[in-house]
Amino acid sequence: MYNGGKIIFGLIIFLAIVTFPFYSNLGGSAKKAMPSLDTPEIYALATKECVRSGEYMKKEHMKVLDEWRDEVVREGKREKISVGGTELEKSLQNGCMHCHSNKEQFCTECHKYAGIDPYCWDCHFDRGEGRL
Ligand code: HEC
Ligand code: HEC
Ligand code: HEC
Repeated sequence: MYNGGKIIFGLIIFLAIVTFPFYSNLGGSAKKAMPSLDTPEIYALATKECVRSGEYMKKEHMKVLDEWRDEVVREGKREKISVGGTELEKSLQNGCMHCHSNKEQFCTECHKYAGIDPYCWDCHFDRGEGRL
């Protein structure tokens, strides 16, 4: 005579042990990127806004940079834009980095997490940190 209950109990324990690494990861043990918007320039804005909506920028900011580059470099359209009550150039250094003056805690914070290293800084300067 064997005990079916014991076998089933044993199987449950076995399954629990072999699947533990999967469900214990569900909560996301990896640290999330926490880009900081805490800069004196953003603090000073009349309204806390980016050049497009925050949601759009989160996913598509590289498109805006491409558009600006094309407009400025290929089409010579250098007219300023107005964001959050401030007049700015369509520029990586003088536009984006004016407000996001904390490159390490903002751009790099996310990019490190995503495992990318944009080559823009080979030529463009950020503010204060020099060539990186
Ligand atoms: C006038 C100041 C200002 C300028 C210029 C500016 N930003 Fe922003 N940016 C902000 C603010 C404020 C937010 C938060 C907006 C929100 O949450 O709605 C933001 C949000 C973002 C986000 C989303 C961050 C997140 O965690 O969701 C990204 C990415 C970003 N900006 C990149 C850029 C890039 C790239 C440029 C240049 C093309 C740029 N920003 C220009 C002020 C600025
Ligand atoms: C909320 C996180 C986040 C923030 C903040 C952020 N980035 Fe990004 N960025 C990403 C991700 C993720 C990618 C890769 C997206 C992809 O490949 O689709 C990326 C890609 C890029 C690219 C394209 C690089 C390539 O090799 O294709 C550029 C340029 C860029 N970011 C510039 C910036 C600048 C400048 C800032 C700061 C003003 C910034 N980003 C802030 C998450 C972020
Ligand atoms: C080989 C050098 C080089 C690299 C690498 C480079 N750029 Fe540029 N970029 C330039 C030059 C030169 C200009 C023209 C500056 C001007 O006329 O004001 C320019 C202009 C721009 C402009 C418009 C004006 C300004 O001052 O920002 C944007 C936006 C821009 N680049 C974004 C980028 C982004 C984003 C990357 C990385 C994905 C990048 N660039 C990589 C050399 C470079």
